[in-house]
Amino acid sequence: MGNKRLEGKVALVSGAGQRGDIIGTGRASAILFAQAGARVFLVDWNEESAAETKAMIEADGGTAFVRQADVTKDSDCKTVVDSCKEKFGSLDILLNNVGGPGGGDVTEVTDNLWNESLDRNLKSAAFMSKYAVPAMADSGGGSIIHVSSIDGYRAGASKNVPYSVAKAGVIQLTRTMAVHHGRENIRVNCIAPGHLHGPFVEQIPRDLRDMRKRAGPLGTEGTAWDFAWAAVFLASNESRWISGVVLPVDAGLQAATPLSVLHNLYD
Ligand SMILES: NC(=O)c1ccc[n+]([C@@H]2O[C@H](COP(=O)([O-])OP(=O)(O)OC[C@H]3O[C@@H](n4cnc5c(N)ncnc54)[C@H](O)[C@@H]3O)[C@@H](O)[C@H]2O)c1
Repeated sequence: MGNKRLEGKVALVSGAGQRGDIIGTGRASAILFAQAGARVFLVDWNEESAAETKAMIEADGGTAFVRQADVTKDSDCKTVVDSCKEKFGSLDILLNNVGGPGGGDVTEVTDNLWNESLDRNLKSAAFMSKYAVPAMADSGGGSIIHVSSIDGYRAGASKNVPYSVAKAGVIQLTRTMAVHHGRENIRVNCIAPGHLHGPFVEQIPRDLRDMRKRAGPLGTEGTAWDFAWAAVFLASNESRWISGVVLPVDAGLQAATPLSVLHNLYD
C-alpha cells in the first residue's frame, strides 16, 4: 500500500480553501489525500481560495477539481455530489470540513447566529451526506469523515453555545449514520480537533495561544497537518473495520481533567 494508500479513490473535501494566512484542516487534508493518490474534488464558497489549493495539488503532481458551492444549501449539496460523480466517475471519501461561528452563552443567542452556526457546522454535514451516501452505495461503499471539536463534548475555552451544540450534533450524526449505513459498506467517523493553531484562532493573543499549547498533556502545538494525517487514515482501507468513532486530535486533552493539567500551565 505504501504512501499511495488512496490510489484509485475519489475524495470530496468541503471547505477546501483557506481563510486567512494559516493553513486550515480542509486544505491540508486535500493535499495529503492527493499525495496519497486520490483525485480530489474541492468545494468551497470561496472559489479563488479553493483554486489555490488545486494549484498546490497540481504542482505536487496530483489531480484536483474545484466547484464553488455553499454547503449549507440542500440544492448546492446535490449539485456538488452530482458533479463529482460526473467529473471523476465515483465518490469514495467525503470530508465534511466546513464549520463556522457560534459564540456567546445561552443568554446571548440570537436567531441569526443560532441558525448560522447550526447550518454551517451540522446541516452542511448532514445534507452533504444525504447525497453522498447513495453515490457511495452505488460504487460499493466509502468513508465519510465529519468534523466535530473538543467543544462538541466539553464546555469550550470560550463561551460558544451555538457552536458547541452544533458540534455535539455532529458526533450524534456520526453514530447514527454509522449504524444506518454499515450494510452499504459506508464507514462514518468523526475527528474532534482540540486546540489546533489554524485559521479559526489566527487572531488570538500570544499568551492565550501559549496557554492552549501548554494545557495539552503533550505540551506541543497542533496544526492542520495533524488533523490531515488522521483524515488520511480514516479515509483509507487501513481503517476498514473502524466506524462510528470520534477520534480526538488534541495532544491528549480529552483524557485530562482540569486539575490533572493544571500544573502544565504553571511549569
Ligand atoms: N482550528 C481549530 O482549532 C479547530 C478546532 C476544532 C474544530 N475545528 C473545525 O475544523 C474545521 C475547519 O476549521 P478551519 O479553522 O481549519 O477552517 P476555516 O474555518 O478557515 O474554513 C475552511 C473553509 O471553509 C469555507 N467555508 C465556510 N463556510 C462554507 C460554506 N457554507 N460552504 C462552502 N465553504 C465554506 C471557507 O471559505 C474556508 O475556505 C471546522 O469544522 C472547525 O469547526 C477547528
